[in-house]
Amino acid sequence: MKRIENQASGLVRIANGGGVKVVAVTSGKGGVGKTHASVNLAVALAQRGRSTLLLDADLGLANVDVLLGLAPRANLEQVVRGELALEDIIVAGPAGLMIVPAASGIPRLASLSPREQFGLISAFSSLPVNVEVMIVDTASGIDNNVLGFCAAAHEVVVVVCDEPASLTDAYAMIKVMAQQRSIERFQILCNKVKDQAHGRALYAKLVAVCDRFLDVSLTHFGSVPDDEALRRAVRVQKAVVDGFPGSASARAFKDLAARADKWTVPESSASRPVFFLERMLSAAQAATVARRGGGLRCTRPKRSSRARTWSSATWTSSSASLTTWLAGCR
Ligand SMILES: Nc1ncnc2c1ncn2[C@@H]1O[C@H](COP(=O)(O)OP(=O)(O)O)[C@@H](O)[C@H]1O
Ligand SMILES: [Mg+2]
Repeated sequence: MKRIENQASGLVRIANGGGVKVVAVTSGKGGVGKTHASVNLAVALAQRGRSTLLLDADLGLANVDVLLGLAPRANLEQVVRGELALEDIIVAGPAGLMIVPAASGIPRLASLSPREQFGLISAFSSLPVNVEVMIVDTASGIDNNVLGFCAAAHEVVVVVCDEPASLTDAYAMIKVMAQQRSIERFQILCNKVKDQAHGRALYAKLVAVCDRFLDVSLTHFGSVPDDEALRRAVRVQKAVVDGFPGSASARAFKDLAARADKWTVPESSASRPVFFLERMLSAAQAATVARRGGGLRCTRPKRSSRARTWSSATWTSSSASLTTWLAGCR
């Protein structure tokens, strides 16, 4: 395992402070391209000279280390247990990208003891390098940890592709994030599209349904084409922006990175990775307590103010009627 010390000399050390832009990448449903988006966005930002940390918080099979051909020997679980420091588990990716393999430690984050929380926060606060951007590859769906990561991030990127389930689940996810976590702003990434017009049409569909039922603001972050080069990159375990930089998907990811580079971090936000982690942990734990008290609460769409409990049954039936609604949307 390449350790961060090998990379640290090229990075700016800081004693205190320094802003970090935290971007959570999520989706309603799996398989839409979150991990590819996270990895390529992170590598492209690193290629632009940004000191970038990628937190692999997706438990899916094709996780960050598999895509990049890395073999981390440890992950956040050992940091939580106090056995290793954060820099011991960080793996170096392309262009100096720092990767925190977190996956198997993630389910435990919502139930850490105060001592474990303190240990984890200390681990992040003592990271001996400056981090300018932190990308979090989350799992899909309304898991407490996913919602916690999104609530703690400055920007939430929702990845969608042109499948009814992707759109309905993205809508449901946005609804829960808005109503449970007061997240109002979402960056929509349309993945696996045929061309830019297809991406814009897909975005318009999601905007139409969100505008009708929710009080949220969506921005078209951009579109990434369905690209054979990306599949070739998977086979050689490289990020497409690294292995095939001239390909259509690589160029699209580089455009997205240029756009993300312009996002500003609000002055008011305490913004070192450790503050992100603190917000994330408290959000995840608060939600766990609320959930034990009787299920996720959400409100009905704008047309009615009656509150109800969000269950998997309402999720499914809502998704089914939305599919019908979306089918009529052009
Ligand atoms: N732009 C794209 N072009 C072609 N295939 C893609 C693209 N984005 C993702 N894929 C493929 O879609 C599948 C799911 O991608 P992944 O990033 O693992 O999704 P998620 O993290 O949302 O579950 C993978 O097989 C990946 O190779
Ligand atoms: Mg994934």
